Amino acid sequence: MKLTVNNLNFAYQDGEQEKIIFENVNVQFAGGQVHVILGASGSGKSTLLALLGTVDKPQSGSIKLDGQDIFARDTEYRKHHIGFVFQNYNLIEDLSGMENIEMALAIADNMKVKDTILGVLNLVGIDEATAKKRVNKLSGGEQQRIAIARAFINNPDIILADEPTGNLDPDTSLIIMNIFLRLAHEYDKCIILVTHNQDLAKMGDCIYTVKNHSILKGE
Ligand SMILES: Nc1ncnc2c1ncn2[C@@H]1O[C@H](COP(=O)(O)OP(=O)(O)O)[C@@H](O)[C@H]1O
Ligand SMILES: [Mg+2]
Repeated sequence: MKLTVNNLNFAYQDGEQEKIIFENVNVQFAGGQVHVILGASGSGKSTLLALLGTVDKPQSGSIKLDGQDIFARDTEYRKHHIGFVFQNYNLIEDLSGMENIEMALAIADNMKVKDTILGVLNLVGIDEATAKKRVNKLSGGEQQRIAIARAFINNPDIILADEPTGNLDPDTSLIIMNIFLRLAHEYDKCIILVTHNQDLAKMGDCIYTVKNHSILKGE
C-alpha cells in the first residue's frame, strides 16, 4: 500500500490573507512502517494529517492511495481506509470503551462481532472488564489504547496519529509507541505519527520534518 503526495499546495484563508502551509510537497508513505513526523509548533503537522485524512482539501496537487485520488471518494476513504488517533483521545466519555468501539463499527456499517472487538482490545492490552468501564473512569493510557482500538477496528490501511503520547508519561508513551510499531510490522498498517518526543521518534521506521512549507526526510 502506498499513499503518495504529489506537488501539494495548501494555504489557509485567514480573512483577507492567505497563510501558506505547504508549497509543492512531494512525499510517499508505505504500508508496514511507522512514519514519524517532527516539526516546530505551528509548522503544519496537524494540517498534514488533516489533508491525508481528507478533512482539508489542497488548493492544488494530489494525494493518492494506490493510484486512486483520495478526494474523489473521500467518504469511502474515511470509512474504510483511515483511522484517527488524537492527543486528547476524543472518546465519548459517558460511554464505555466497548461502546466507543461499537459506535465506530456502526458508523462504518461493519458487521464485525464482539469477538473481533475483543481481539482488537487484546492487541492493545485492554481486558473486557476494563473495556466495559465508562471512559471517564480510565487512565489516559487506557483511554489512548481504546482510541487506538477504535481507529483499528475497521481494519484501515492507514492510521493518522496526532501527538498520541502528548499527554502521557514516558513509560505509557513507550507502550503506546510499541502498539503502533506492532500494527505496522505485524499487520502491515501505514502509521503516520506526529510527536515531539525524540526518543519515540528514533523508534520509528522513518522520520520526516515539516519545515519551511516542506516535508523533508530526516530530523
Ligand atoms: N483553520 C485554520 N485557519 C487558519 N489558520 C490555521 C487553521 N488551522 C491552523 N492554522 C495555522 O496554520 C499553521 C499550522 O497549524 P498546525 O498544522 O496546527 O501546526 P502544528 O500541528 O505543526 O502545530 C499555524 O500557524 C496555525 O495557526
Ligand atoms: Mg498540531
